[in-house]
Amino acid sequence: MNGPLTALDWLGLLHPVLAILFIYPVAGAAIRLGILAREKRTGYNTALPETVPTEHWQHGRWLVSAMVVASLIAYLESFLRHGADGRSGVLLLAGIGTVVALLALWRVQQPALRASFTGLCLAGLLGLGAQPQIERLADLPWQADFWRSHYWSGLLLTALLLMSLAIRPLIPQISRLRRLHVSAMLLACVLFAVVAITGCRDLLSGMALSPLG
Ligand code: HEM
Ligand code: HEM
Repeated sequence: MNGPLTALDWLGLLHPVLAILFIYPVAGAAIRLGILAREKRTGYNTALPETVPTEHWQHGRWLVSAMVVASLIAYLESFLRHGADGRSGVLLLAGIGTVVALLALWRVQQPALRASFTGLCLAGLLGLGAQPQIERLADLPWQADFWRSHYWSGLLLTALLLMSLAIRPLIPQISRLRRLHVSAMLLACVLFAVVAITGCRDLLSGMALSPLG
């Protein structure tokens, strides 16, 4: 890139910087604490403190929250760069609604409410991501570009973690849900790598800066 960065370029940098400085380190800590939580539950390591399982899901909660916020920042940058087609009010409301649903998910305990706020948060991310300003490469899973899309891998990853947050109070109680959680998070670990690779690729290719074709 030639010349100094504009304010919009700095906003565009906020998303990858947040991922590098916060999301990936917290993901590493959450994964380690998850392994320790398992060692504690199975009695493999009896010297572990009581706080390990709680520390694990609290790290997971910060992790998924940062991912939602980072996605919203990426959307904001795309809308500012490509224009909002006179719908900035609606898009802003959808963004605020997504954050409110996420904050509500931090507070409510009843399963129905947790499911509802998870659905609302995902609906906000999907609805905003469906706008033409967002670069998705392809929208159908049988198209090769779908699997090369940073947007779709990021969204799938965020959805998997949001669902873990939704069922969080039930994971220690129901062993089938615990197994489901661990399987989903193994897939999430693969997606963390995919998202890092596709995000860096898009930075390299200058896709974030080029007009949508
Ligand atoms: C970074 C991805 C994550 C990985 C790799 C991961 C992995 C694990 C593992 C290995 C366990 C232990 C299972 C067992 O005891 O057999 C566990 C338990 C658990 N995880 Fe995660 N997890 C992740 C993210 C999350 C998130 C986002 C949440 C929700 C906020 C969460 C909530 C829980 C809960 C509540 C437990 C049960 C803890 C207990 O035994 O009391 N995890 N996880
Ligand atoms: C868990 C981590 C991440 C998630 C959930 C995520 C998610 C997203 C989402 C939803 C978008 C919106 C697409 C758009 O506005 O057009 C986006 C854009 C973008 N992200 Fe990420 N991202 C993550 C990590 C990263 C990393 C590590 C990098 C690079 C170092 C990166 C670079 C970019 C770039 C350059 C864009 C704009 C161009 C594009 O759409 O690919 N992201 N990301």
